Amino acid sequence: MEIFKQIAPLKAYIHAQKQQGKSIGLVPTMGALHAGHLSLIEASKKENSITVCSIFVNPTQFNNPADLLKYPRTFDKDTLLLEKVECDAVFYPDSSEMYPETSLIKFDFSHLDKVMEGKFRPGHFSGVALVVSKLFHIVDPHHAYFGQKDWQQFAVIRQLTEELKFNLTLHSEPTSREEDGLAMSSRNLRLNPEQRKQAIVFFQALNVARKELLSGKDIESTREKVKEIVEQHAGIVLEYFEVADSKNLNLLENVKDSDRPIMCIAGFVGEIRLIDNMFLD
Ligand code: PAJ
Repeated sequence: MEIFKQIAPLKAYIHAQKQQGKSIGLVPTMGALHAGHLSLIEASKKENSITVCSIFVNPTQFNNPADLLKYPRTFDKDTLLLEKVECDAVFYPDSSEMYPETSLIKFDFSHLDKVMEGKFRPGHFSGVALVVSKLFHIVDPHHAYFGQKDWQQFAVIRQLTEELKFNLTLHSEPTSREEDGLAMSSRNLRLNPEQRKQAIVFFQALNVARKELLSGKDIESTREKVKEIVEQHAGIVLEYFEVADSKNLNLLENVKDSDRPIMCIAGFVGEIRLIDNMFLD
C-alpha cells in the first residue's frame, strides 16, 4: 500500500494509474477507522481498480475546538486495517499541505446546511465542502464513497458535486452497526463502558419512532416519545429528532409530505456527540 503525505506525488501516482486505464475510487475519512469505513473501502474495491483512502482530521469542519483536539488519531492502527482490506493508497496530509494559507472561502448551502447538523454545528458543512472539494480536485476520482450515517453530509456533497460539475459518481453506503445496533463511529472510542451501553438508546428510539410513525402517529408526539427513551439515563441529552425529506432535507410536519422520509437524531452522551438516522420505508 502506498502512503502519500504530499499532494504532488499522489497526483503523479493517480495520473500514472489513469494512463494505464485504471479507474479510481476515493474514500474520504478522518481516520480512527472502524468497520463502517472499511465497508466503504470494500464498496470502492468492487467498482474500481484503485482505491484511495484519505485520512485527514479537517480543522475547518470543527466548530468546537475541544472536539477537534479530542478527535481520536490512530494512524498506525488505521494503516494496518487498510493493508488488511488491500486498500491501494492512503493520502495522509498535514494541515499545512491542505491549508498552506488560512482559507477565505465559505460555502452556503441555503436550507441544506441550516437544519439539523447545520443548525447545531454552524460552519461545519462549509468546512466539509471545502475539504471534499480539495480532495475531489487532488484525487479526481471516478467514484467517491460516503456513509448513510452522515446523511445530511451526503446531501450537501451531492449538491456540491452537481453544482460544481465534479466529474464523478457519488455513492452512499448503508450504516454499519455494532451487534447491539449502535451506529459505528470514531467517536464511540471516547465512550466509557457505561456510556457505551447507554448509547444504544439512539438506535432504540429510532426503531420505536419508526413503528409509531408507520402506525400513523404524528411527528410531534413521536418526538416526545423519542426524548423519553433517549433521556432515560442521566447524562444523555437529546439535541434533535427530525423527520425530513431525504432528498431536499425539508423538515416534515407530516410523513405523508415526502416520498422518502428519513428520521435523523443527534444527542450527547456525557460530552460525546452522537448522530444516527433511519429511513422510514
Ligand atoms: P468520518 O467521520 O471519518 O467518516 C468518513 C466516511 O465514513 C463518511 O462518509 C461517513 O459517513 C462514513 N461512515 C462513518 N461511520 C459509518 C458507519 N457506521 N457506517 C458506514 N459509513 C460510515 O465524514 C467524515 O469523516 C468527514 O466529514 C469527511 C467526509 C472525511 C470530510 O472531512
